[in-house]
Amino acid sequence: MTASLPRIRIRGLKKTFGSKVVLDGIDLDVETGTSTVIIGGSGTGKSVLLRCILGLIEPDEGTIEIDGEDVLRAPAHRQRHLRERIGMLFQNAALFDSMSVLDNIIFGLHAKLRAKAQPIVHSEMKQEAINLLSQVGLDASVSELSPSELSGGMQKRVGLARAIAGQPDILFFDEPTTGLDPIMGAVIDGLIVDCVNRLGSTAIAITHDMASAQRIGYHAAMLYQGKLIWQGNASDLMKSGNPIVDQFTHGRREGPIRTEPNKTQTL
Ligand SMILES: Nc1ncnc2c1ncn2[C@@H]1O[C@H](COP(=O)(O)OP(=O)(O)OP(=O)(O)O)[C@@H](O)[C@H]1O
Ligand SMILES: [Mg+2]
Repeated sequence: MTASLPRIRIRGLKKTFGSKVVLDGIDLDVETGTSTVIIGGSGTGKSVLLRCILGLIEPDEGTIEIDGEDVLRAPAHRQRHLRERIGMLFQNAALFDSMSVLDNIIFGLHAKLRAKAQPIVHSEMKQEAINLLSQVGLDASVSELSPSELSGGMQKRVGLARAIAGQPDILFFDEPTTGLDPIMGAVIDGLIVDCVNRLGSTAIAITHDMASAQRIGYHAAMLYQGKLIWQGNASDLMKSGNPIVDQFTHGRREGPIRTEPNKTQTL
């Protein structure tokens, strides 16, 4: 760990839904300008973790600091300000189907310009949205389409354009390549890496896809039973030496990870 303040510092983060403990004491530092990829099985709480940082879910315990400022305990206007620095590509892109592709991106631009107290000039918005489309490899011909008329890969591109609108210095990607063919997955990962580098952003990405994890991530962490049980370099994901990480990254049926809820296996 470097001596400088991490851009994002999480300590002791806990979240329970009913009797289900989802996050059970998460500690994570994400250094400024680096990308961290979080891996873990379905339903282990990866999206919940990002949603807690975004303020969409209220955690039960713990702290989340952005540049040393405690987001959970800051005054409401500071919380808003800190969270408006985050651009998010949601799982399944989460575009508004009632809006055109262009209006989806303009929506992202509005939010970010308001956050930066920059004037909103509507004629410039449209051009900026078209510029963002071209940055993710789409041309203006898709502008007036509804997101439901696009392929999965195109939807991810539009979601990415919306996430980078307003040049956020923090970017979150939730399953950016799920549902895409391997080539399109690699293309989206390439765009993500370009965007993160161009903006100098700090990024957290969630993925099940090991090729994607190693393309996007510099650091990696594995979420298992509510905790980050391993953290290391993304390049070591396939050779972590941790039996839980190994089973997951190599997709082995046998190993310490409980895959059948009724079977009592111990770690
Ligand atoms: N708002 C909510 N209310 C109740 N339970 C929730 C809520 N959000 C998430 N959960 C539960 O928390 C657990 C973790 O969900 P989460 O969506 O974070 O999983 P995930 O790791 O992102 O899985 P996947 O890889 O399938 O996307 C699940 O059991 C889910 O049902
Ligand atoms: Mg999820």
